[in-house]
Amino acid sequence: MIDFSSLKLSQLPVATRVVLSSAMVILGIGYLVAMVNLYLTYSLTDGEPGLTVGDLKRAFYGRRDTTRLAAKIHGGSMEQFLPKPGEKEKILSWIQDGAPRGGYEEIVQPILMQNCVRCHNPEGLQRFRPLTNYEEVMTVVEIDRGEPVGLWARVAHTHIQSIGLIFLALGLVFSFTSLREKWKIAVVTLPFLALLVDFGCRYLAKYYPNLVYLMMVSGASLGFSFAVMILVPLYEMWMKRQ
Ligand code: HEC
Repeated sequence: MIDFSSLKLSQLPVATRVVLSSAMVILGIGYLVAMVNLYLTYSLTDGEPGLTVGDLKRAFYGRRDTTRLAAKIHGGSMEQFLPKPGEKEKILSWIQDGAPRGGYEEIVQPILMQNCVRCHNPEGLQRFRPLTNYEEVMTVVEIDRGEPVGLWARVAHTHIQSIGLIFLALGLVFSFTSLREKWKIAVVTLPFLALLVDFGCRYLAKYYPNLVYLMMVSGASLGFSFAVMILVPLYEMWMKRQ
């Protein structure tokens, strides 16, 4: 039987170390790009620059005193796409009048066609939220209760499965480092717990907005695990003296 406990990362063949290191570096880069994506997606949610608690509460709890459309174009991230004076006010007063179909065709549709539909169409940047006809627009003219469950499910299942696989791979390599067994167990378990807490809170933030703080803690734990699980094996493979 092979005795895995005596296996040392620094004694692996060079080709093995190269492939493990390359994979870890590319996963690290992917993680950094994911952070950029997170920032670009959410930093303007509350209309202010910078990614803050306010952005997360707005994204996942919503704004209960207004509709999603009104919140986005009035002090939200979509206001920038309504540069002509008066257009925003026209849409807002249409919403206040109860969003009638007649007013949509006459007033709102031409404004959306000109400013919004280039992204909000089935092939556009924001294809999950097309705004090309009355029915589609009505889906955002209701009280903003944060991230819709369907969107949460779509994001959660792909992230939990793919990040789970990434941490399986990183954890396997990490388990052969020379740290104490109990530290290794703690480090390899942390990201799986953080992932569950993160997406659990993201769902429950609809009801308890302060859970976004726990979301941030679990996000930071994921980042920490990522760094430790990449840097320690890299160090042991290439720098550690035998
Ligand atoms: C350059 C592409 C682009 C343009 C132009 C654009 N949007 Fe968006 N829109 C997005 C993206 C990306 C998001 C998701 C990120 C966010 O919410 O800030 C979004 C989100 C939204 C949402 C929230 C949808 C949801 O499911 O929560 C609404 C409502 C919205 N936009 C309305 C508009 C309106 C109205 C206009 C025109 C005045 C507009 N958008 C113009 C890209 C665009």
